[in-house]
Amino acid sequence: MKVLSGIQPSGELHLGNYFGAIRQYVRMQDEHDCFFFVANYHALTSLREGPRLKKLSMDVAADYLALGISPKKAAIFLQSDLPEVTELTWLLSTVTPMGLLQRCHAYKEKLAQGVPADHGLFAYPVLMAADILIQQADLVPVGQDQKQHVEVSRDIAERFNGIYGKVFRLPQPYILKDVAVVPGTDGRKMSKSYGNTIGMFEPEKSLKGKIMGIKTDSTPVEAPKDPDRCNLFALFKLVASEEEKAEVERRYRAGGVGYGEVKKRLLALMLEYFAEARERRKELAADMGKVRKVLDEGADKARAGARTTLRAAREAVGL
Ligand code: ADP
Ligand code: TRP
Repeated sequence: MKVLSGIQPSGELHLGNYFGAIRQYVRMQDEHDCFFFVANYHALTSLREGPRLKKLSMDVAADYLALGISPKKAAIFLQSDLPEVTELTWLLSTVTPMGLLQRCHAYKEKLAQGVPADHGLFAYPVLMAADILIQQADLVPVGQDQKQHVEVSRDIAERFNGIYGKVFRLPQPYILKDVAVVPGTDGRKMSKSYGNTIGMFEPEKSLKGKIMGIKTDSTPVEAPKDPDRCNLFALFKLVASEEEKAEVERRYRAGGVGYGEVKKRLLALMLEYFAEARERRKELAADMGKVRKVLDEGADKARAGARTTLRAAREAVGL
């Protein structure tokens, strides 16, 4: 099966991105024909500092590599290295009903937050449909929040195929539910937009500061605590062994464990869990030329299929 997914380089990647998405990408690359990209065209809808976007895009690519996505197994590329996607976006736009986009939760939420709506934000799902359809992807691994966008991609493909004949394969969302939502340091969903993230590659000192700053309640050390309602424990669970998890869970329930102790242990576990990836990430930072080369090769691979699809779509509409 053909699998495709992307992450926006709108900030540093964090534990939510890893446990919620990248870890699963790494598993999928052994079984499927995978395409993983950095969605930098999409990031333009929220990030308007050119040099920062450029840096973050390369950083996300280096993070992918350090965390185990392999260029031998998957095509890794920057969205903007395939401008064919933007041409397809226009062809798809002409068959996309306004109502379909007006119903999108992500768009409605941004409006509700008071984000000024521009056409890019509104048309975001059409660009996403072009990413997916241009590669004829079967499966799109995404978090629950992006499910609707994949369904919209499918609707757009069906509409186009209905009008012009079958050009696009219909994609399916593959919901990543291996892990529940990873909480941030403030207890809300960890997200670049909330400033509550913990990154895999932060220097030890800032990692320590963030972990020590994880919000907990004021239950005294000796009192029993409910591990299922503790965001510190939710993070602890992600990196601890089964035995250690069980042990700390038991001590939570019995009372006698302090949050400070758990935080210290979490920091040590986190450094251990990501030790290899952190080492690889350091090496890549010293040789970003290598990352660029991987992206060039990934784009070549992705471009081959993209051109074939685009040619078929142009032909179908009469260009
Ligand atoms: P952010 O909210 O930080 O902007 P994105 O929306 O770019 O993150 O998410 C990229 C991928 O990472 C998606 O597949 C998403 O479901 C996953 N993801 C992001 N944050 C979390 C989280 N806190 N818990 C689980 N998965 C997450
Ligand atoms: N919108 C996705 C997100 O914010 C990123 C994305 C862009 C994407 N194009 C895609 C995901 C195509 C899957 C397939 O998470």
